[in-house]
Amino acid sequence: MEISFLLNGETVTADCAPTETLLDFLRLRRHLTGTKEGCNEGDCGACTVMVTDEDGTHSVNSCILFMGQLPGRAVRTVEGVNGPDGAMHPVQEAMVTHHGSQCGFCTPGVVVSLAAAHQEGRHDWDSVLAGNLCRCTGYAPIIRAAEAAAGVPVPVWMKGDGDRLPADHGTAPKSADELAALLVAHPEATLIAGATDVGLWVTKQLRDLPFPVFLNRCADLREVKIAGDTLHIGATATVEEVRKAVESLHPSWAAMLSRYASLQVRNAATVGGNVANGSPIGDNPPVLIALGATLHLRKGDARRSIPAESFFIDYGRQDRAPGEFLESITLPAAAPALRVYKLSKRFDQDISAVLGAFNVTLDAGRVTAARIAFGGMAGVPKRAAHVEAALVGRDWSLAAVTAALPAFAEDFTPMTDMRASAAYRLKTAQNMALRYFHDLAGEQVQVREVSA
Ligand SMILES: Cc1cc2nc3c(=O)[nH]c(=O)nc-3n(C[C@H](O)[C@H](O)[C@H](O)COP(=O)(O)OP(=O)(O)OC[C@H]3O[C@@H](n4cnc5c(N)ncnc54)[C@H](O)[C@@H]3O)c2cc1C
Ligand code: FES
Ligand code: FES
Repeated sequence: MEISFLLNGETVTADCAPTETLLDFLRLRRHLTGTKEGCNEGDCGACTVMVTDEDGTHSVNSCILFMGQLPGRAVRTVEGVNGPDGAMHPVQEAMVTHHGSQCGFCTPGVVVSLAAAHQEGRHDWDSVLAGNLCRCTGYAPIIRAAEAAAGVPVPVWMKGDGDRLPADHGTAPKSADELAALLVAHPEATLIAGATDVGLWVTKQLRDLPFPVFLNRCADLREVKIAGDTLHIGATATVEEVRKAVESLHPSWAAMLSRYASLQVRNAATVGGNVANGSPIGDNPPVLIALGATLHLRKGDARRSIPAESFFIDYGRQDRAPGEFLESITLPAAAPALRVYKLSKRFDQDISAVLGAFNVTLDAGRVTAARIAFGGMAGVPKRAAHVEAALVGRDWSLAAVTAALPAFAEDFTPMTDMRASAAYRLKTAQNMALRYFHDLAGEQVQVREVSA
């Protein structure tokens, strides 16, 4: 297919396979070898580029970004962040001044991540850099460089991409209606939203994807809005967009999402993809289940709505027919008792061993309803039905929560794998219930915030 996009300020038209990765295109076809290949699976950030579209400028990993996702968008690589006369970007200047580079392998990715943050006015350096693995310099000099550059204005040559986006002549659907019609004609299609799962099917499993259909140009699928007391999340809203949207509505969910993968992955991954892939360790499904969210599915003109938990039938099996797609998710805009706990071996950029989402409703100190859901405890994201039953109708107390703990073993028979043993999973899930009690009581439960 022929793809037009803006590359380092110039319109490029290329004949590519839609699932060719941008990283391969840059390095092999354009000899833009500043963008490095480290892991080729979204983990290290050596391949970070900036992508600009109607929604702004963001850092993403080019190793799991397909050419078919680029029509109508702008890309800047490390070769494109300095000025036309060779002037260094403020971030590059600061990296030199503050000794932010040793072997230099990570440096192009670090520079692009920091240039994207500079453009967006972000100062949350730990988040910005969590997806850029540096093995030799260490992060202190890099953060000193970021802080120094933050005070310098965005260079003029970095400003124009958003105004010069090329016309999108791509064949991808531009609306949910177009997508629905295409999928009725081609139910065998592979849907590609952010490609943070599907990208690995290509780069790691070397799979050919039959009839890839890209969702990122359907603007109406990306909407996030509040209507009355309901939050509406379009299926292709990115995890980072949703994190920002729920920061004030559901702060505990937002805090968990700040530990979901890295900023580069969050800028690409969609919440719809996180649900549709049916993974038992996806971080959003337990939260959606605990919130009582509704999934809205569509096939042609036929729409149906189901509770989030009933989508996950069994490991690898979801309630979705060929040609059907997830259009949106709705959930309560407020749930003051929602708490989300992510347990992983590493704080940032790690898949959960166990994720618990808790949401009890109390009336005069008595539990009138409970929605408790877990990831990593079964073959699907699943409600802790026996634990919920043990709590409902009782006075909300430490004794009631403690009495409900044995019910975890009735709800879950977790497995042992490289992330955690079965016994550890069961124990930590129970401990999360205790933590929830103390959390709702206003006690400090954030290990990172405990002080003497
Ligand atoms: C480095 C790295 C770190 C990660 N860390 C985490 C993490 O911390 N927590 C976590 O939960 N996940 C993590 N993931 C997994 C991944 O980011 C998520 O599962 C992501 O949300 C998938 O969304 P996507 O838009 O990229 O989906 P895609 O890869 O585009 O698609 C995933 C699946 O969903 C289908 N699909 C997508 N959209 C729709 C739709 N609207 N309707 C129907 N089907 C659809 C696709 O056909 C495909 O089968 C990580 C991935 C990487 C590469
Ligand atoms: S090469 Fe490691 S994130 Fe792309
Ligand atoms: S400078 Fe060597 S990996 Fe960062």
